[in-house]
Amino acid sequence: MKLLNTLLLIFSLLLAPVLAELHFTVEATQDGVPIPASEIKLEPFEPGTLGDKNQNSSSTARVRGSRRLTRRSNTQANSNNWCGPVKHTASSPSTSLVKLVHGEFVHPACTKRTGTASSYPQAAAFWVGIDGDAVTSALFQAGTVCKFDTSTSTVVNQVWWQWVPSSAYFISSMTLQAGDYMEIIVNTTSSTAGRVTINNLTRGQAYTMGITNGPALARVDAEWIVERPTYGGTLAGFARFGDLWFDNAYGKTVGGANLGILGSKQYQIPSLCSSLEYDDATTEAWAL
Ligand SMILES: *[C@@H]1O[C@H](CO)[C@@H](O)[C@H](O)[C@H]1NC(C)=O
Ligand SMILES: *[C@@H]1O[C@H](CO)[C@@H](O)[C@H](O)[C@H]1NC(C)=O
Ligand SMILES: *[C@@H]1O[C@H](CO)[C@@H](O)[C@H](O)[C@H]1NC(C)=O
Repeated sequence: MKLLNTLLLIFSLLLAPVLAELHFTVEATQDGVPIPASEIKLEPFEPGTLGDKNQNSSSTARVRGSRRLTRRSNTQANSNNWCGPVKHTASSPSTSLVKLVHGEFVHPACTKRTGTASSYPQAAAFWVGIDGDAVTSALFQAGTVCKFDTSTSTVVNQVWWQWVPSSAYFISSMTLQAGDYMEIIVNTTSSTAGRVTINNLTRGQAYTMGITNGPALARVDAEWIVERPTYGGTLAGFARFGDLWFDNAYGKTVGGANLGILGSKQYQIPSLCSSLEYDDATTEAWAL
């Protein structure tokens, strides 16, 4: 069993006293062969939070005269930072809780934004996760981010995961490029433990983080989000990312039922990002 001989690194992070101590292990393979511990690198993100809970916006929904509107069927809502669907589930019985969320996407080529929300740093994050909307006390998420580097005028692409409100981690030994086809799974075993799996389907490289002592989740939201990230407690400028499609977007409940994205609340970031769902497993977000 490759999992048994690839248990490589153990990390722990002592957080503010109100938080439990989050622990995680990392396993990584290339085409099924373990990657040596010396080649696995994660680094905590400073200043801490990258993705964040949903920050609802009170302005009215943006209406765009594009053909895409005719295909919209989920209820829309506005957000300051989230663009994409959130599927809400009942908190009881416990079998209806969200167990895992899965999504695949091509990491996009990001470009510099001018005008509104063009402040620095500029970034856009692409992730799947559990909670952070109806219940905002915790959020378990993983994905990629592009950040516009002001000093070199180039884009930095990174793979990351986070269990909010604990810090984000970049997996710096996964070098990401625009065009990489990524598969992301966040998979809970309880409200405070789970696994993050990040597969580079282009190259056959897989990283799995096994996490315990996470901040308690309610496990009532499943989401597939393009985010205007938070750097140092404030919203970053929002890099342009073109069009992003989440494919094979699905979740599973604790009871094993499939959670599609139909019936989700479809978040829009007014004047910055629109999103639509086309069927029960595909959603598109595009920069405005
Ligand atoms: C955002 O609004 C929805 C209703 O559209 C609500 O269910 C959710 O709790 C709100 N989230 C926050 C963070 O206010
Ligand atoms: C994914 O694979 C592609 C193609 O080999 C490679 O260029 C890229 O750096 C890989 N991305 C990650 C995150 O490992
Ligand atoms: C999710 O975790 C369960 C164990 O709780 C495991 O059996 C299952 O294979 C995992 N699913 C995915 C898609 O990783």
